[in-house]
Amino acid sequence: MKGKFITFEGSEGCGKSTQSRLLYLHLKKQGFPVVYLREPGGTKVSEKIRNMLLDPGNKSLTAECELLLYMASRSQVVSEVIEPALKKGKVVISDRFLDSTLAYQGYGLGIDLGFIKQVGRFSTHGLKPDLTIFLDTPLRQCFKAIGRARDRIERRKFSYHQKVRRGYLTLAQKEPGRFKIIRLERDKHNTQEKIRAIVSQLLK
Ligand code: TMP
Repeated sequence: MKGKFITFEGSEGCGKSTQSRLLYLHLKKQGFPVVYLREPGGTKVSEKIRNMLLDPGNKSLTAECELLLYMASRSQVVSEVIEPALKKGKVVISDRFLDSTLAYQGYGLGIDLGFIKQVGRFSTHGLKPDLTIFLDTPLRQCFKAIGRARDRIERRKFSYHQKVRRGYLTLAQKEPGRFKIIRLERDKHNTQEKIRAIVSQLLK
């Protein structure tokens, strides 16, 4: 793969989507061939799966079904969008990827991490991000920032989201080379500067 794969991770409302979009626009302006997507989503099929996953009406969804739907969505976007773009030497920015499943379904729901990694390898053909930006924002601040009706995952208990956050921090500790923890600054442009400094190291 000739391109570079950058992912953003963090809790809902942590500023991840704003920051990843700002980075996308910046790199585009600089002339990089860059592709932006969100997970679950990024293809027609994956967006349909996203709707199923986030619909608060789908109360009976089991943990197993939830895990496999996230992976199914991912498998489609990897084959249809991410791999072809990386082969062409593009920079791919994804708002969430496999680490979200390890944090939310692994650390959060208690599904075996080894099993998630195994299904993950199958779904992604072993693709790993070159860089993962983890936006670490206090959880209460994140939840205050969600300015719309909460989706199925966001409606889970605060203690669930605490487990997810702790899971992310453990993942980051395990792979300090790839996982960069960024604390959100009051001014979004200051946060963006920190992210750009790290990304420019990767792309130089
Ligand atoms: P978003 O709100 O950042 O767009 O993400 C959608 C929701 O799906 C969010 O609550 C996190 C959750 N999620 C998982 O639980 N597992 C996953 O693998 C992914 C990609 C997202």
